[in-house]
Amino acid sequence: MRNLAIFASGNGSNFQALIKAVQDGLLGVNVVLLVCDKRDAYVIERAKAVGISSFITSPKDHPSKEAYEHVISEQCQARNVDYIILAGYMRLIGSTLLSTYHNRIINIHPSLLPAFPGLHAIEQAFEKGVKVTGVTIHYVDEGVDTGTIIAQAAVPIKANESLDELEVRIHQTEHALYPRTIAELIEKNEGAINDVK
Ligand code: GRF
Repeated sequence: MRNLAIFASGNGSNFQALIKAVQDGLLGVNVVLLVCDKRDAYVIERAKAVGISSFITSPKDHPSKEAYEHVISEQCQARNVDYIILAGYMRLIGSTLLSTYHNRIINIHPSLLPAFPGLHAIEQAFEKGVKVTGVTIHYVDEGVDTGTIIAQAAVPIKANESLDELEVRIHQTEHALYPRTIAELIEKNEGAINDVK
């Protein structure tokens, strides 16, 4: 079974959805670590409640971004992490982690990329008046939500829907799509490894 580290900065509803998928037998992985850059993030409580270790550190505790990512990378390597799963981690991944975990860092974004990258994607789509928005899962590269797309799900915006209602539906879509996509991706990658053998 592959080992996952989940990186998150806030509420952690996607963290919770991934844990539930593991508990329900829909995602055959070990979640071995939560990495969090905010001491007061609710996701830390969620990890505690299910007995998953947290590594909490802020870039402010380190002289440089490289040094910050180096300690995170060490924590991941000590636990034999195979994939890094970003779930509301509000920082750009730098070259230190990108080189160590090349093509093994995955992010979820609440829009149909390349539309509405960056922060406030749901709100921007809503305000723009687009009729369809959605969720994208992609590999992470050095850009802001620019990596190769792995999966997408469309969420049509209903007439007279409020932003809050849309947000709820986007998050529900995320919680279903993320575990399923990770399960498929790992299965596909394992298949490729076995093919080479
Ligand atoms: C999600 O909308 C995700 O797409 C984005 O950040 C949000 C995190 O929500 N990257 P949560 O912390 O998982 O509840």
